[in-house]
Amino acid sequence: MRLTILGGGGFRVPLVYGALLGDRAEGRVSQVVLHDLDADRLSAVTRVLAEQAAGVPDAPAVTATTDLDEALRGADFVFSAIRVGGLEGRADDERVALAEGVLGQETVGAGGIAYGLRTVPVAVDVARRVARQAPDAWVINFTNPAGLVTEAMSRYLGDRVIGICDSPVGLGRRIARVLGADPGRAFIDYVGLNHLGWVRGLRVAGRDELPRLLADPALLGSFEEGRLFGPDWLRSLGAVPNEYLHYYYFNRETVRGYQEADRTRGAFLRDQQARFYEEMRHPDAPALATWDRTRAEREATYMAENREAAGAGEREADDLSGGYEKVALALMRAVARDERATLILNVRNRGTLAVLDADAVIEVPCLVDANGAHPLAVDPLPGHATGLVCAVKAVEREVLAAADSGSRASAVRAFALHPLVDSVNVAHRLVEGYTAVHPGLAYLR
Ligand code: G6P
Ligand code: MN
Repeated sequence: MRLTILGGGGFRVPLVYGALLGDRAEGRVSQVVLHDLDADRLSAVTRVLAEQAAGVPDAPAVTATTDLDEALRGADFVFSAIRVGGLEGRADDERVALAEGVLGQETVGAGGIAYGLRTVPVAVDVARRVARQAPDAWVINFTNPAGLVTEAMSRYLGDRVIGICDSPVGLGRRIARVLGADPGRAFIDYVGLNHLGWVRGLRVAGRDELPRLLADPALLGSFEEGRLFGPDWLRSLGAVPNEYLHYYYFNRETVRGYQEADRTRGAFLRDQQARFYEEMRHPDAPALATWDRTRAEREATYMAENREAAGAGEREADDLSGGYEKVALALMRAVARDERATLILNVRNRGTLAVLDADAVIEVPCLVDANGAHPLAVDPLPGHATGLVCAVKAVEREVLAAADSGSRASAVRAFALHPLVDSVNVAHRLVEGYTAVHPGLAYLR
C-alpha cells in the first residue's frame, strides 16, 4: 500500500512515520512518498525517517519528490498536511489581527479566515490533481483550517476526502479518564464544526456518564477543560466545549493576553523550526536527536499562553503528540481493511444537523469501513451552539466564494460576519492588512 504525504518536509511527518513503523498488521503501508515544495526540508525530514527506520524490519520505503503529480500517481492514500505560507504566514495571520484588536490565532477568528483565504485555492488545486492522477485514492486532510479545507476539497473529491483533528478525541479521552471510564469503550457524543464543537454526553454501556461529571465540582476541577472554562460555566452550558471555544467564551481576556505576549505562537514556532532546518543543513547533524529535541521544546509550550493565563495547567504527557497521527492511522486502517471503527471526523453533513445543508462539512462521530466515513445520527445542537455553528459556517462559505471568484467583497464579508470581529471597518482594514503582507492573497480584486 502506498501513502503519499503532501507537506512531506513538515515537522510532524516523523510522528506519522513513527506510527506507521509500529503497524505490523497485514495490508499495512509499504511505501511512503513525501512531497514538498522545498527540497531542503524534504531532505531534512527524509534523514530523520531513515534514522527512525534503522533496525526496523520491513520499514516502509521512503521516497521524496517536489513534483506533485508524480507524488500522487499510484497513491492509495494521500495525507494532505500542507501549510500555505509556512509558519511565517501563520505569524502574520496572528499579528495583523492582534494589531486590529481582534483575535489573532491559527484557525479561529480573523487569523483563521486569512489562513483559509490563502489555503483554499491551493487545496482546490490539490483536489483537482488527485481527481486526475489518483481517482481511487482516499484523501485524509490534516491541513488547517481543517473543516473549511475539507469542504473545499469535497467539491472535487466528494466523500473521498475526510478531514481529521486530534482535539475532539483528546477531549473525550480526558473526560473518560476523570470519570474512571475506559476511553476505548466510551461513545463520545460530540458534534459541531472543526475547532467548534461540544461534548454533550459520554456513554458507557448505553449510560450517559457526563451528568455525573457536571454535578461534581471536584471532578470538574481535575481536568484541563474543567479548569479552562470553570465549573460554573460548564454546568451552565450542560456540555463540555472543545478547548477552542475558549476563544469565543473568553475572547476579551485572550486577545488582551495575546497582545501582551512578546511573540505569538506562530512566531515562536517559526523561529524554533527555522533552527531545526538550519541545524539539519550540516550533513553530519544527528537527525533524529535534533528533531526529538525540537519536538520536546514544542510540546512543552503547547498552547501554553492561554492555558496558563486561564489556569488550565499542563497537558498530560500522553495527550501530547498523541493526536493526528493516531487518528489518521486508525482511519486509514478502518478503510483499508474494512475494520469498522467509530471516529470523530470532518465529513459532509448530509442530514445530520438539520440546520445545515447536505454539503456543509461538520465534525461528528462517524462509522468508518471500506466504503468510507458515515456520520452517525446525533441529537440536534442547543440554540446557543446552533447560533455559533451557523454563523461560522456562513463565514466559511464567504471564504469559499472569495477563493472561487477572487471577490474582495466576499473576503470583507467573511471577516465582517465573524462573531469575533466587531466592526465592518475592522473587516475592511483586515483585508487591507492581510493583502499587504500575504502574496498568496493577490488574487483578491
Ligand atoms: C491542535 C489542533 C491543530 C492545531 C494545533 C496547533 O493539535 O487540533 O489543528 O494545528 O493544535 O498546535 P501548535 O503547536 O502548532 O500551536
Ligand atoms: Mn485541529
